Amino acid sequence: MIEIRTDRELGIKTIGIREWRDRNSVYNRCEPTPYVALDALLANYKFNPKDHLLDVGCGRGRVGIYLYHKTKIRVTGIEINETTLDEADSNLATYEFKHSLKHTPIQWVYSSAEQYEIEPSQNVFYFFNPFSVQIFKKAINNILISHKEHERPITLIIYYPIGEYQTYLKKSTPFKLAAHIPVPELLDSTQYILIYKL
Ligand SMILES: C[S@@+](CC[C@H](N)C(=O)[O-])C[C@H]1O[C@@H](n2cnc3c(N)ncnc32)[C@H](O)[C@@H]1O
Repeated sequence: MIEIRTDRELGIKTIGIREWRDRNSVYNRCEPTPYVALDALLANYKFNPKDHLLDVGCGRGRVGIYLYHKTKIRVTGIEINETTLDEADSNLATYEFKHSLKHTPIQWVYSSAEQYEIEPSQNVFYFFNPFSVQIFKKAINNILISHKEHERPITLIIYYPIGEYQTYLKKSTPFKLAAHIPVPELLDSTQYILIYKL
């Protein structure tokens, strides 16, 4: 199975779901983006070597480590669950060890998306359904504030986008839908990727 095989090749452990104790939380559970979805992204979206990706709700670090492995772009991940963040730290260490890498431009930060201050170098933002639309609005607002202070092209990559995210982006923000990337390997047709540009 591709999930087990790719985790093993990278030297990381990212399979599995972690629910919050409070199932009504506005914060969603930890669940990794399937590798086939990341492959669909890589086949249809060209990263620039100068990109700095922020994985908003990075879980155990799969997206950042895999995209770095394939493209060598700089990656930051923010995560609000301490246990999950510890696992992301271990995964980064085992990835670097397995691939004899010393200083990869990958870092994880313990922070909520609401409180995180976007860095001017960050220009590509990845979301896999990390939280409710209320929190999403705050996260997008932080990106817009950063854009106002440091104008630059900005890309949002949204995997498995819920309708509320799409409606909000369309009706209340300057982001424009730029691409729809299907993931044919996944049986559920709602598991596609949307790319928005500012
Ligand atoms: C569905 S997982 C996605 C993990 C990873 N991005 C991936 O695609 O493989 C969402 C993650 O967002 C984290 N999260 C939820 N609310 C958050 C918040 N307000 N700030 C930062 N991280 C959050 C969760 O703990 C969880 O690990």
